[in-house]
Amino acid sequence: MSKKKKFAKESLVTKTELVLPNDTNTLNNLMGGRLMHWMDVVSAIAAQKHSNRIVVTASVDNVSFHAPIRLGNVVTLVAKVTRAFNSSMEVHIKVSAEDVPSGQRFDSNEAFFTFVAVDENSKPTGVPELVPESDEEVLLFDGALRRRQLRLVLAKRMKPNEAIELKSIFNID
Ligand SMILES: CC(C)(COP(=O)(O)OP(=O)(O)OC[C@H]1O[C@@H](n2cnc3c(N)ncnc32)[C@H](O)[C@@H]1OP(=O)(O)O)[C@@H](O)C(=O)NCCC(=O)NCCS
Repeated sequence: MSKKKKFAKESLVTKTELVLPNDTNTLNNLMGGRLMHWMDVVSAIAAQKHSNRIVVTASVDNVSFHAPIRLGNVVTLVAKVTRAFNSSMEVHIKVSAEDVPSGQRFDSNEAFFTFVAVDENSKPTGVPELVPESDEEVLLFDGALRRRQLRLVLAKRMKPNEAIELKSIFNID
């Protein structure tokens, strides 16, 4: 039987948060850990919407913080599944912030999360195929295979010589 297919846009999740005193460090900047918690939850909902399953976080790729988010800023998180494999899904999340009184908006950071859909016994289970539509979705879909191979090699779950697509970008035979 052929696998069910779903569009990338069906997994889109957006969350908006106001940075309150309890979210900040002593410099009045949003704590990195609080932001990562919001990112984890929003990305997990995107993966749940794609798979209609409970999901667990398998890995998070390098998160870096380009600019501090300040007390009182409004934070927007936008997540979408980029590609689905067997039981795992890669989710791309973008974070931006706005200083509402001045109307100044800026990009804060982005990351790729990998979630695994699990069944009632917490065992990995199959997920629908993802169909990208927009140019950005196609670009993210195409890059997802290389990113998957890189993270599986780093996690020692794949031998470097099996990472065919990854090797091709370095022109290694
Ligand atoms: C993620 C987890 C379900 C994988 O289970 P497993 O028994 O090792 O399953 P498998 O080896 O069959 O791998 C299942 C999928 O996970 C993916 N996976 C496993 N480790 C991974 C990693 N470090 N990064 C990315 N994907 C990973 C595999 O590539 C595979 O994907 P596929 O089915 O699409 O090909 C399991 O390791 C787990 O439950 N981890 C804890 C999850 C958790 O508690 N998260 C919260 C952390 S604080």
